[in-house]
Amino acid sequence: MLERVLSFRRASPVTDDGDGEGDESKTRKQLYPATRFTNYMTRTFHIWPFLLIGVVLVVVTSFAYHSRDLVCISASSSGNISRLRFFGFEGLETDVGSLGVPWCRSKHDKSVEWTTKDLLEGLEEFVPIYETRPIKNNMYGMGFDHSFGLWFIARWLKPELMIESGAFKGHSTWVLRQAMPDTPIISITPRHPEKYLKKGPAYVDGNCTYFAGKDFVDFGSVDWEKVMKKHEIKDQGEVLIFFDDHQNELKRLKQALKAGFRHLVFEDNYDTGTGDHYSFRQMCDQFYVRGGGHSCFKDSDEARVRSRRKKFWEKAVDIEELCGPGEAWWGVRGQMRDDFNHSNKAITYAEHFQNSRFVESVLDVYWELPPVAGPSLTHQTRYDPARAQSPIVEDGRYGLFQRLGLSRLETSVFNGYTQMVYLQVSQEP
Ligand SMILES: C[S@@+](CC[C@H](N)C(=O)[O-])C[C@H]1O[C@@H](n2cnc3c(N)ncnc32)[C@H](O)[C@@H]1O
Ligand SMILES: *[C@@H]1O[C@H](CO)[C@@H](O)[C@H](O)[C@H]1NC(C)=O
Ligand SMILES: *[C@@H]1O[C@H](CO)[C@@H](O)[C@H](O)[C@H]1NC(C)=O
Ligand SMILES: *[C@@H]1O[C@H](CO)[C@@H](O)[C@H](O)[C@H]1NC(C)=O
Repeated sequence: MLERVLSFRRASPVTDDGDGEGDESKTRKQLYPATRFTNYMTRTFHIWPFLLIGVVLVVVTSFAYHSRDLVCISASSSGNISRLRFFGFEGLETDVGSLGVPWCRSKHDKSVEWTTKDLLEGLEEFVPIYETRPIKNNMYGMGFDHSFGLWFIARWLKPELMIESGAFKGHSTWVLRQAMPDTPIISITPRHPEKYLKKGPAYVDGNCTYFAGKDFVDFGSVDWEKVMKKHEIKDQGEVLIFFDDHQNELKRLKQALKAGFRHLVFEDNYDTGTGDHYSFRQMCDQFYVRGGGHSCFKDSDEARVRSRRKKFWEKAVDIEELCGPGEAWWGVRGQMRDDFNHSNKAITYAEHFQNSRFVESVLDVYWELPPVAGPSLTHQTRYDPARAQSPIVEDGRYGLFQRLGLSRLETSVFNGYTQMVYLQVSQEP
């Protein structure tokens, strides 16, 4: 499966985002007034080009003094055109200068072998599957984007064994099962998903070994050699690990390397200044990476851009939130958070820098799942699109959005995106 993943197509570093603090709801429907207004104004995004073409045609065939009235008439049919530009175009603008998007450098510039076309084909197939999910309201768990990402990656890699850490009610177990109907799963989670069945929907898999309840053992303490023998796995490179347990991702990476695993997916790859655990996105946010490194200087372009974008996107952070004591911007305010923020440790910039160098030294592939569709289509209001990859279905492509069945889904399922990442790692140079 390893070979399938590799190709030497260079990944394009694009953008970056952030999800919530802690284990809070990712699919809740909270809308800030400003973003609600943005949504309203961008709802008709896909017809703007036609509106504009129409307006231009009218303008060029009219006298100058007439045209002003005509522009005003068409503008009022879709709202106030100048406000539309301000909330729509600027809110969606991805060229945000000093914000940029950090990217983890891999050893040999390898990237994944799948293309946008593969992702689009996958989406078409996945939407009807997602509609049959047993847990419709997965508050505190995965929404649509990450469910799709996990399903797509698992199905592409075709592992011999899938291991997940952090199952909650079992939605991600269900996603893995949809991707690979006959592949064994090991699910590590303190509370057995069957416990949730009493209160409402949950998913318990028939071919899954649960390290849950009294059998719970943290991923880092499992005797993996023994477990691999039991499952007759000879090559740990044939195993896919999915982490959604809100632990320091550097810690998890080291544990996975020690056990010899090579294919890792991290659900919550939080942006700098956000989240409840140290993430790869945070680790790779360094001055030497394009778009990486930050300034705590209050009178800077970055400070201005950040405070403006915070008005549009709930998860965007301004310079006051970004920077902790001593102008520490890395991690979350200079802290390396762990275990749902139950533990956090201030680290120096030098340590933070060393962490990224370590990650780069073991990284063969770093691939952030793009959001499935742009915010004018999904009406998501949480993550700043300027801090995320370009979406699979770009803004304005409503026809495609609809054709893929995405318009049938509730808006709230698009709110949980936190740049889920697939890593391929190895210790050899
Ligand atoms: C965000 S939820 C997982 C959501 C789930 N993957 C889904 O698709 O809905 C995080 C889960 O991690 C569990 N957890 C907490 N500490 C853990 C640990 N050390 N190892 C594994 N899971 C842990 C929590 O009990 C919770 O069920
Ligand atoms: C994380 O923990 C720190 C230290 O205990 C605390 O100051 C901070 O408010 C916490 N953040 C969140 C989002 O819980
Ligand atoms: C249109 O927006 C501009 C700038 O926000 C504002 O000054 C003007 O009053 C608005 N007009 C209407 C009709 O809302
Ligand atoms: C478990 O997987 C095996 C092999 O694919 C299959 O024969 C069996 O029916 C599955 N059991 C359940 C309970 O799904």
